[in-house]
Amino acid sequence: MASESQNWVLMVTARAPTNIAVIKYWGKRDEKLILPVNDSISVTLDPDHLCTTTTVAVSPSFDQDRMWLNGKEISLSGGRFQSCLREIRSRAGDVEDKEKGIKISKEDWGKLHVHIASYNNFPTAAGLASSAAGFACFVFSLAKLMNVNENQSKLSAIARQGSGSACRSLFGGFVKWIMGKDENGCDSLAVQLTDEKHWDDLVILVAVVSSRQKETSSTTGMRESIETSLLLQHRAKVAYTFDAGPNAVLIARNRKVASLLLQRLLFYFPPNSDADLNSYIHGDKSILRDAGLEGLKDVEALPPPPEIKDNVPSQKYRGDVSYFICTRPGRGPVYLSDESQALLNPETGLPK
Ligand code: ADE
Repeated sequence: MASESQNWVLMVTARAPTNIAVIKYWGKRDEKLILPVNDSISVTLDPDHLCTTTTVAVSPSFDQDRMWLNGKEISLSGGRFQSCLREIRSRAGDVEDKEKGIKISKEDWGKLHVHIASYNNFPTAAGLASSAAGFACFVFSLAKLMNVNENQSKLSAIARQGSGSACRSLFGGFVKWIMGKDENGCDSLAVQLTDEKHWDDLVILVAVVSSRQKETSSTTGMRESIETSLLLQHRAKVAYTFDAGPNAVLIARNRKVASLLLQRLLFYFPPNSDADLNSYIHGDKSILRDAGLEGLKDVEALPPPPEIKDNVPSQKYRGDVSYFICTRPGRGPVYLSDESQALLNPETGLPK
């Protein structure tokens, strides 16, 4: 390890997206390696709306691997973090930064420790697949720092060992996680089906629900829909899916359909009266303009959809949705070269 002093810190910052599966990953055939029982297909969500940013740093002055998530130090001793770290370290290459006078040979990486700071720009425990974006970013940024010479699909097989669906967040657009057959999991990896430009007017609306216990069981809800919903026959307008949490994900094929959908969602699930619409819709707020609702301050004045006979907004589910996220297909992980976006101090390697 050649360098004038031992005080240097070398850092990489990256940003990675989350994703939502439309063909679900539901069930593992190997718990430890995280190998699924079926292929799955997902849409990567626009990282401008939902993403993880991670800075990884190495320095001879670090005496242990450490990680901070959303500003709080967390343990890296868990098997999932350890698997990703081990897999990346075993593939580390030589690294040279001539400007800083740093030279790390691949044999050195076993002796060096890393600091990692990660930040999710969306609620971490709200069932929004934060571990998918988190582990994708973890692997992507460490691979760059350690000069790992593997393609994105091979990196996805490492991220998979952190969180299954993380493998799909290594790509933008529309992504398939191939379940693979091999016992050691080397062929269980993600591939891009097509990029985010392929279907760029697709709109994804996530209803982030409050943690309140639901009052209607699924069985009752389905029965009520059959008996009362005028819209049920039209629902093939909109696809929907749920991840492990309670948040409903609605996928509209274009902005026109999405704005019709939003008008109805806001009518049936109005925010609490103290909330304004602008803070009720996260992500792409321009959908409010498309739905003719821009600038509407008084939530009580939400126009009813035309199929509603009485003009009274539904009180039954008021406040049940905490907020909506409006997003679209997005790009895969990127490196952020601007040091101002780093989460670690370039001198100390500690969180800023
Ligand atoms: N789990 C949830 N968010 C994460 C992150 N940003 N990094 C690693 N694991 C996570």
